[in-house]
Amino acid sequence: MKRNKTVYSFLFIAIAIIVIHSCKKEEAAPETPAPSTPSNTLPAGTSYVEPSTQRSNGNAALGEDFIKNGNFAYAGIPTPQFPYSSNTNELGRTGVNATIPYNYTEVDAFNGVKVVAPNCLTCHASYLGNQFILGLGNSMEDFTTDVAANIPTIDSYLSFTYGGTQSPEYQAYEPFSTGMKAMGPYVMTKTRGANPANKYAYILAAHRNKEDLIWQQNPSTPMVPDVVPSDVPAWWLMKKKNALYYNANGEGDFVKTVMSSSLLTIKDTSYARIVDGHFVDVLAYLKTIEPPVYTETINTSAAEEGKSIFTANCSKCHGTYGTTETYPNLLVDLNTIQTDPLLVNAQMASDFFTTWYNQSWFGTGVNPGRIAPKNGYIAPPLDGVWATAPYLHNGSVPDLYTLLKSSARPAYWTRTFDATDYNYTNVGWNYTVLTSANSTCYNTDLAGYNNTGHTFGDHLSDSDRMKLIEYLKTL
Ligand code: HEC
Ligand code: HEC
Repeated sequence: MKRNKTVYSFLFIAIAIIVIHSCKKEEAAPETPAPSTPSNTLPAGTSYVEPSTQRSNGNAALGEDFIKNGNFAYAGIPTPQFPYSSNTNELGRTGVNATIPYNYTEVDAFNGVKVVAPNCLTCHASYLGNQFILGLGNSMEDFTTDVAANIPTIDSYLSFTYGGTQSPEYQAYEPFSTGMKAMGPYVMTKTRGANPANKYAYILAAHRNKEDLIWQQNPSTPMVPDVVPSDVPAWWLMKKKNALYYNANGEGDFVKTVMSSSLLTIKDTSYARIVDGHFVDVLAYLKTIEPPVYTETINTSAAEEGKSIFTANCSKCHGTYGTTETYPNLLVDLNTIQTDPLLVNAQMASDFFTTWYNQSWFGTGVNPGRIAPKNGYIAPPLDGVWATAPYLHNGSVPDLYTLLKSSARPAYWTRTFDATDYNYTNVGWNYTVLTSANSTCYNTDLAGYNNTGHTFGDHLSDSDRMKLIEYLKTL
């Protein structure tokens, strides 16, 4: 059963990749980007991330409905055979959707058969404490096993149940099976919580003709097992950013950029156009999501002192919060930030995905998206940062205290993956330090998993550090 769940989780990612927006909306007037306001006094080692033109005609209410109930997938497990039920109905859904976990949705397959497919919330929703938070990156999911290991069993079972692979039910499932098998051994992470989503996009691109997006059995670039791990960013941060993703490589039309996570099961560009139409609304909805408010007591006088420490040490990169919100949109180059370089270096070195994307249906035509790798990481907005542990783009640092004191960061650590096992003093996950690595712990010796860099809190006294953390709880 656990393997099944992992398999299904994979499916949902692919589905997300498929999303595109509708033809009629493609004609809508573009939103003019705000004039760029780079100052000539940028902090050393940083550069301004320029905004791109965005479509602004989305309907947030429709987008919310699409995230909770919409069809990204056009393929999945026939509903009667879907193995999981849930009575928590976090999303307040109706019908079959009220009875299955929030990260799955019943949809119509391309041939009209009712199927259940994973949705964006597999990675983009989570519990913290006893609170369900839509938009919080899921740092609990386990991608360490071969997600396709169980697919042949499901193939046989569904073929048997429905009387062969030509049955409508099997046909409604088949694209999912094919996509999963293509990814299987190439998307495994080294530890639970690390997310391989970037690799999904890469593999799916390799199996799609770039013009019409039709599946091709043989990948157009060699497949390697290496995976660059990332932590899933919170959705409420997106509204402030001029470019998407940790290294700000997501330029151009954000709808197209975000859609590229939906390539798993769509058949061709005609489906991509339908998804695109809905994603205009999805983007509008994502911009309405607000960070969760800190749930414990805050020492307001300490937080007030912490604010001055933040202004003096952090605001130049992370902006200001409260009544006068500013966000500078700065890319910090690798030499300055010195966090794990693999994500940046892998994107700069391998131009397969960049070239494929920019020449594909996504990167050409009306409202093109653009992938533009850069030599650094964007300094993220810190709204709701109390809830987004583990920290840094690879989730290598368990809490804010060790983020702000690099000498105290654990090299090898584990956590319980219990959503209530959160530490509200150091702000982040409770963790156990190991003296040497084992095969399942977070191992910062591994490429892509390093916990170096971002030493901007190291010079603070412990008392100032705790005041700064008190302030960060208020964001
Ligand atoms: C398998 C996990 C997974 C699934 C499924 C998934 N995402 Fe993501 N998403 C990620 C990861 C990981 C990142 C960060 C990648 C990076 O920045 O390098 C991300 C980044 C994003 C961002 C950019 C955020 C930012 O601040 O730059 C948006 C927007 C987004 N996803 C939307 C979606 C939508 C909408 C769906 C469903 C259609 C979806 N995602 C499905 C894992 C996932
Ligand atoms: C020179 C620019 C710069 C300064 C100064 C700076 N940061 Fe950062 N910060 C970054 C960048 C870039 C990242 C992302 C690095 C990565 O993920 O590899 C980051 C990441 C973070 C994160 C992790 C966010 C997450 O959800 O993973 C936190 C928290 C943070 N900074 C807090 C602070 C605080 C507090 C200060 C002041 C003591 C500070 N930063 C000073 C550039 C800066």
